[in-house]
Amino acid sequence: MVHATSSLLLLSLALLAPCLSAKQCLLTGKWTNDLGSNMTIGAVNNRGEFMGSYLTAVTATSNEIRVSPLQGTLNNINKKSQPTFGFTVNWKFSESTTVFTGQCFVDKNGKEVLKTMWLLRSNVDDIGDDWKATRVGNNIFTRLRTLKE
Ligand SMILES: *[C@@H]1O[C@H](CO)[C@@H](O)[C@H](O)[C@H]1NC(C)=O
Repeated sequence: MVHATSSLLLLSLALLAPCLSAKQCLLTGKWTNDLGSNMTIGAVNNRGEFMGSYLTAVTATSNEIRVSPLQGTLNNINKKSQPTFGFTVNWKFSESTTVFTGQCFVDKNGKEVLKTMWLLRSNVDDIGDDWKATRVGNNIFTRLRTLKE
């Protein structure tokens, strides 16, 4: 009897496992990253396009930080549960542009995490300064939970 029960338990776990691993990672919502920057991503339409806003915690300039719009696309061609995406941030307080690319993962605790890399292009006055105008980095985003939620 004990044996039958544990077999049943194993069977149900085996049936459940694919569902757990296939948990969908959704891009829409509020995210915060390892630097304390926050972003909000709106609804993703059926072409995979989305808009949002980015509030950075850091800047390469001395300008006052302002919320900046972002625009991107999610690759949903095969409706993967952990899709790739990219977006561009058009900074509203500096003449710079950042592109992010990344993948939306569900980690082993069932938590969604965005693993991204970015390129930041800063405006330079002279083509001779082009060589130093692009920075590269990476950021890890997790869902922003406010105390009320
Ligand atoms: C991001 O949101 C958190 C929680 O609301 C807040 O404490 C933090 O100051 C925000 N970061 C920025 C750069 O505003």
